[in-house]
Parts: sequence; C-alpha cells; structure tokens
Amino acid sequence: MASKSQYPILLVLLFFCGYAGSANSDDQVAQGKALATDRSKGNCLACHMIEDGVQPGNIGPPLLAMKLRFPERDMLKIQVCDATLRNPNSRMPPFCRHRILSEEEVELIVDYLYTL
Ligand code: HEC
Repeated sequence: MASKSQYPILLVLLFFCGYAGSANSDDQVAQGKALATDRSKGNCLACHMIEDGVQPGNIGPPLLAMKLRFPERDMLKIQVCDATLRNPNSRMPPFCRHRILSEEEVELIVDYLYTL
C-alpha cells in the first residue's frame, strides 16, 4: 500500500499518462486524416464521400459509421490495405500491394476512419 504522502505523486503520474495517451491518439487521427485526403497517398475522396471532404467522388460507398459496419479492426485494415482480398473485382486500389501506403499508414487511416 502506498503511504498517504505518496498519493499526490501517483495522481500526477496518472494524469500525465492519461494526457500523453490521448494527445498521441488525436495526433494519429490527424495524421490518418491527412493520409486519407492526400491525393498522392490514399486519395480516398476520389471515390468516397467523407464528412467535411471537398468534392468527393461516389464510386465507393460513403465512409461513415465505420465502427458499426466494421467492428473488427482487422477487416477494415484489409479493406484499406488491399480491397481485392475481400472482393477480387474491387475497383479500390490495393494500396499496400502497390506500395502507395505502408502498414503503419494504414493503421493511422484506420484510426481516423473509426472517428467517422
Ligand atoms: C478508385 C476508387 C477508390 C479509392 C481511391 C478508394 N476506394 Fe474505398 N472503395 C471503392 C469501392 C468501389 C468500394 C466498394 C467495395 C469494393 O469494391 O471493394 C470501396 C469500399 C471501401 C470500404 C468498404 C465500405 C463498405 O461500406 O463496405 C472502405 C472502408 C473503403 N473503401 C475505404 C477506403 C479508404 C480509406 C480509401 C483511401 C485510403 C479508399 N477507400 C480509396 C473505391 C475506392
């Protein structure tokens, strides 16, 4: 058991851990959004409507309610990484196979998609 004099220190530590964690994940979401809208990277807007995106295309379905429709993160990762694994005739580019997106970049995009 921690003695009473140690409590303030523990609280400060807890506060900083929580703060660092959330700041980090906001940052990941921002990076993912940047990758998703970058025309030389994901370029998702060319085919998908995404919340505040400008001039979206409508070749693919609108990207919304992602957590509801993709409760399994792995399924969403596969879709973004290489859509042809789920649908061999997909018109969505296999971003990982074409080395347009790395696995880390796919993770960041998925972090962003889960906020939609
Ligand atoms: C060239 C057009 C095109 C681009 C670019 C594109 N997609 Fe797609 N996407 C599609 C089509 C078409 C589908 C419909 C399902 C299929 O064919 O796989 C789809 C399906 C999806 C789905 C499944 C949606 C659902 O409701 O089942 C997700 C998630 C998705 N795309 C995410 C992305 C993300 C993220 C990007 C950018 C990294 C992206 N797409 C870029 C065309 C595209």
